[in-house]
Amino acid sequence: MVKKNSCVFISGAGSNLKVLIKNSREYNFPINISYIISSSPRAKGLIFARLYKIPYRVVNLNCNKSFELLLNELKKRKISLICLAGYMKILNKKFIRRYNKKIINIHPSLLPKYKGLNTFKRTLESKEKQTGCTVHYVNNKLDSGKIIIQKSVAISSSDNVETLKNKIQQKEYRAYSEAVIKVFN
Ligand code: GRF
Repeated sequence: MVKKNSCVFISGAGSNLKVLIKNSREYNFPINISYIISSSPRAKGLIFARLYKIPYRVVNLNCNKSFELLLNELKKRKISLICLAGYMKILNKKFIRRYNKKIINIHPSLLPKYKGLNTFKRTLESKEKQTGCTVHYVNNKLDSGKIIIQKSVAISSSDNVETLKNKIQQKEYRAYSEAVIKVFN
């Protein structure tokens, strides 16, 4: 199968990145992770870029010029899908327009509920019985683009932020790869 070149953007631990890299090495998976962007040189997930020998760059997207440079780089590398995986920065409008319908993100809630930060804490405080994760297209509004896939998780009375995060992340690993397959179907 001819795989599409893809780039994963991270800021933190990179556990979703790791699963995407592993799955991308399966014959039938539609993408190849050929580039990684990190917002921070300290992102733990960069360990996977080094381990799997994938080119990466730490980029501070703080002005139009920096977005322009990155767009050129992604074009040169023929990147046709961008996967945000724990990426904590906001992309500018032009960047999103240029990659319209080709940027996807994973969020740890059943969107449209609990957009934004501190998702687990807010979910627990609201005494929800269930939550989950969502993979969605990225548009100009935070966590608001078209939903590609959702998976739900039951919340028990003993759950705290840590246990909930763990449960949801287990679902995320499957959800993200299934969403990538869906994008190319
Ligand atoms: C994930 O839980 C995702 O839902 C959120 O950020 C977290 C990233 O985790 N957007 P990791 O860096 O993939 O381990």
